Amino acid sequence: MKIGVIDSGIGGITTLREVMKSASADYYYFLDEGNLPYSKKSNEELFDISKSIIDKLSILGIDLVVIACNTLTSAAAAKLRKTNSIPIIGIEPALKPALKNCKRVVTLATSATLCGDKYIKLKSGATDTDVVDVNGDGLQERIERGDISEAERYLDELLKNTGDIDGIVLGCTHYVYLKDHIEALGVRTFDGNAGVARRVKNIAKDLEHCSDTIESGDMSVESKNDESKSSLKNRLVKSNCKKSRVFIHSTGKLPLESISKYLNACVFLW
Ligand code: DGL
Repeated sequence: MKIGVIDSGIGGITTLREVMKSASADYYYFLDEGNLPYSKKSNEELFDISKSIIDKLSILGIDLVVIACNTLTSAAAAKLRKTNSIPIIGIEPALKPALKNCKRVVTLATSATLCGDKYIKLKSGATDTDVVDVNGDGLQERIERGDISEAERYLDELLKNTGDIDGIVLGCTHYVYLKDHIEALGVRTFDGNAGVARRVKNIAKDLEHCSDTIESGDMSVESKNDESKSSLKNRLVKSNCKKSRVFIHSTGKLPLESISKYLNACVFLW
């Protein structure tokens, strides 16, 4: 099975790490750093960018696309689904679980995500919880540069006037790298990565498309009748699924070693 993953940078690597726990596949990650930040682009530009990325992924025979970017999901996912036959899974700020568990939450997301219809609709579901929107633009560039302590300092500044909060929704996949810093302040965090992983798992099961992941060559199966032969072969195909591999294509520079360490996987350039 081949799964394409798209983000403007290393943010979606946090999504990929979660997805890899639930689906064994060859992952093709398009790291579009050349276009970072997506939040400064219009919905039309983001549709064109992501359409051309999906076209490139399609040539590789991708079965499924994960948009590991809240901004891109909000701007273009619905239109992309209308123009593509490949299943497309997006990510959205995990506000729903935060509303169930918190009294006052911050949604930390890009300006584009916060202004998007998708988020506005999500926020309209808040009845007993105060939701404070914090525009995190600028954080993604700092994180992309690997400047985590500068990103943490900037985040502290952004949160200075939010009052007492008991949760933060990390509404941009880049911000997941700030999770430990936030939780050390005694505030819970919520992100959409586990939800994406669940959906990938379900769709992967539906596609039942494990045969691409076996080692090359056909398999000979000895059995008395044809029916049990084919079910045995099916089971063998499934049990022979290889460990996931990650292929990354980057439009910018790539911190390959740290990505491989973070994912605990072999990472190849594509
Ligand atoms: N990781 C993207 C997100 O989840 C960053 C968007 C950007 O490049 O501005 O929104």
